[in-house]
Amino acid sequence: MSSSCSWPCSALPRAIHIALAIIFVVSVSFLDHVNGMDAKTVIDSPLLTQKIGTNRTIKVDLNGDGDFNSVQAAIDSVPEGNSQWVIIHLRKGVYREKVHIPKNKPYIFLRGNGRGRSAIVWSESSSDNVASATFKVESHNFIAFGVSFKNEAPTGVAYTSQNQSVAAFVAADKVAFYHCAFFSTHNTLFDYKGRHYYDNCYIQGSIDFIFGRGRSVFHSCEIFVISDKRVTIHGSITAQNRGSANENSGFVFVKGKVYGIGGVYLGRAKGAYSRVVFAKTYLSNTIEPHGWTNWSYDGTTENLYHAEFKCHGPGAESEKRAPWSKELTEKEAAPFLSIDYINGEEWLPVWL
Ligand SMILES: *[C@@H]1O[C@H](CO)[C@@H](O)[C@H](O)[C@H]1NC(C)=O
Ligand SMILES: *[C@@H]1O[C@H](CO)[C@@H](O)[C@H](O)[C@H]1NC(C)=O
Ligand SMILES: *[C@@H]1O[C@H](CO)[C@@H](O)[C@H](O)[C@H]1NC(C)=O
Repeated sequence: MSSSCSWPCSALPRAIHIALAIIFVVSVSFLDHVNGMDAKTVIDSPLLTQKIGTNRTIKVDLNGDGDFNSVQAAIDSVPEGNSQWVIIHLRKGVYREKVHIPKNKPYIFLRGNGRGRSAIVWSESSSDNVASATFKVESHNFIAFGVSFKNEAPTGVAYTSQNQSVAAFVAADKVAFYHCAFFSTHNTLFDYKGRHYYDNCYIQGSIDFIFGRGRSVFHSCEIFVISDKRVTIHGSITAQNRGSANENSGFVFVKGKVYGIGGVYLGRAKGAYSRVVFAKTYLSNTIEPHGWTNWSYDGTTENLYHAEFKCHGPGAESEKRAPWSKELTEKEAAPFLSIDYINGEEWLPVWL
């Protein structure tokens, strides 16, 4: 073999050529799948930033080192009828304020430094869910990465009010949260309406803590169940209130895990056509054997769509499940497992 031969060199052993070819093919197909459900990648901030492809960034910094020191002030600076993506970057810190993205400010990408580092926190309880919310989004095409949304109101304490304490009110179409966290005791995430995607999010609560009539996919999310000292009944993770057969709302949980403290149901019949699917999810002992409940609902259970598909873990045991609940077949599950359920290919910058 000649020592002056440079790469690629016909004198290279054949095995090395083959190995390089394999590495090339594997990395190309890896990139190919970044936008597909089977990707083995993590959607991080640089990837989202690249996909959003804007040069407009507003920096928010608590220490006055940015354009603003309040998140709301940054949102207020976005012109009404905004039609191009703008990044609002939250530097590390706990932003103690309520934040509202009104109806006429679409294309905002709220980019944090990670859910353990950038947080929007408020403490308010109210008999009205929306009034209590720490964060409200009412504009379409909103994306968040790496931000915690928290309502610190001391609800869930014995002998106190039954007030609500919403962390986030999601009331617009085409909204996605990546690596975010939602903290409250109950009624944590008001997934009110529109098509939504939650990827690798952490959602905590005790009763009805994911509720509303959104059409939403929760991909690889971590659902953490805490206890509530006010009530003896077990709470539900979801209270989805789809109201009729032709309404296309429904919550779909794919992969991810459910665990925590105390017993809880996967869902309760909030509306007569309540639709919730847990697929390929780890369910710990925190799930009641009955699985689903018709608590406070006196209509027929015939139209409820409370379903599971290939879940695993001790809480996935199906023997004592509510009679109306279903274990889906491959064919029945298919429409819920694809990102097409929320027409994701049309509007999500990236998905898994
Ligand atoms: C930002 O991008 C727009 C559109 O691509 C371009 O017109 C503008 O000059 C850019 N601004 C800066 C500061 O780079
Ligand atoms: C409960 O909400 C009402 C308003 O809806 C409010 O006046 C009251 O102070 C709240 N109670 C607590 C304990 O926050
Ligand atoms: C509610 O669920 C319980 C237990 O599965 C069942 O016995 C009861 O008939 C249900 N109620 C209605 C109205 O279907």
